[in-house]
Amino acid sequence: MINLAILISGRGSNMKAILKSLKKDKIPANPVVVISNKPMAIGLEIAQKMGVRTEVIDSQGIKGQSWEYDKKIITVLEKYNVTPENGLICLAGFMRIISPEFVNRYKDRIMNIHPALLPSFPGIHAQQQAVEYGVKYSGCTVHFVDVGIDTGSIILQSVVKVKDNDTEKTLSERILREEHKIYPRAIRLFCENKIRIKDRKAFRV
Ligand code: GRF
Repeated sequence: MINLAILISGRGSNMKAILKSLKKDKIPANPVVVISNKPMAIGLEIAQKMGVRTEVIDSQGIKGQSWEYDKKIITVLEKYNVTPENGLICLAGFMRIISPEFVNRYKDRIMNIHPALLPSFPGIHAQQQAVEYGVKYSGCTVHFVDVGIDTGSIILQSVVKVKDNDTEKTLSERILREEHKIYPRAIRLFCENKIRIKDRKAFRV
């Protein structure tokens, strides 16, 4: 059984979709903790209602990557027995860039969801970038986290058609529905040991 930690900063809709799917689809992962860097994150309340322990590690005033801050996260991960041997860490709207030291400690055990078809539109406001660029298709990507920004090995993607009259809001809503489907699927693949990484590519076995 994999010990799963979910890191959030806000509303936590991906977190909620993951927690629901773990139960419903019997994914072999134990959601041991939800960690937020924001004390007021709505997702914290949702997690508690769903019976998952929560922790806040306030990052107010800590700008950019910080190994000092990330060490506090690792202390909490260790407290809940989320280790580089048995753990999986899912970033779900966690609005911080994690440090290379953290990435390397949990190598190929940290996932993220991004609301675009990477490598297009990395970084923030991905849906707005897609609307402004005028692409006809966008979507979402679950990938492993490496030391770059949204550059890690791609696990799953889902395509969403962009309509001529889409705004950032309408496109975001349709992409989000796909996010809620593919994130749990990627977690299942990981927990069932069905992902291999060769060079920079993640394969399904
Ligand atoms: C999602 O769009 C996700 O792709 C991005 O941040 C947003 C988080 O939303 N990384 P939520 O907190 O899961 O509702």
